[in-house]
Amino acid sequence: MSPQPLTLHVNGRAERLAVDGAVPLLTVLRNDLGLNGPKYGCGLGQCGACTVLVDGVAARACVLPLAGVAGRQVTTLEGLAGPDGLHPVQQAFVRTQAAQCGYCLNGMLMATVALLRRQPRPSDAQARAALSHNLCRCGTHLEILAAVQLAADLAAGPAAANAAPPGAEPARP
Ligand code: FES
Repeated sequence: MSPQPLTLHVNGRAERLAVDGAVPLLTVLRNDLGLNGPKYGCGLGQCGACTVLVDGVAARACVLPLAGVAGRQVTTLEGLAGPDGLHPVQQAFVRTQAAQCGYCLNGMLMATVALLRRQPRPSDAQARAALSHNLCRCGTHLEILAAVQLAADLAAGPAAANAAPPGAEPARP
């Protein structure tokens, strides 16, 4: 018997899918919708590579059954950029070169977007806490933390973003 069709709202589009509701969201995003921004890492909800936003909140798509997100708004990495270009968080990660192999970046970006939604000006400690469950094996943590602060500046507007490059020493008197 074929599964009951479900409607999935992804990146502003409604997708009608005849997929078993127990299938992980990540599988559907990658295999059925061709959205490969979210990555398969551990598959156990522990590494964060698969992070998406569900109603604006970061969620692990590898352990989220499709039925659990039916009717809710899912945003993937592909949905961040707008008509004016890259999302401020994407711009910040590019400008700070916050990638080495890049496998964790989807999760880092999506977790940062979620963080800035609830805390537009996170302290370094808040950024560290928010990203502490997103694993990076290359060791680009300092650049990633700089990217979070630059993203907050970019989101706040040009004056804040041009005030100082990420990681810059404060001006000496
Ligand atoms: Fe989902 Fe690791 S692949 S948390």
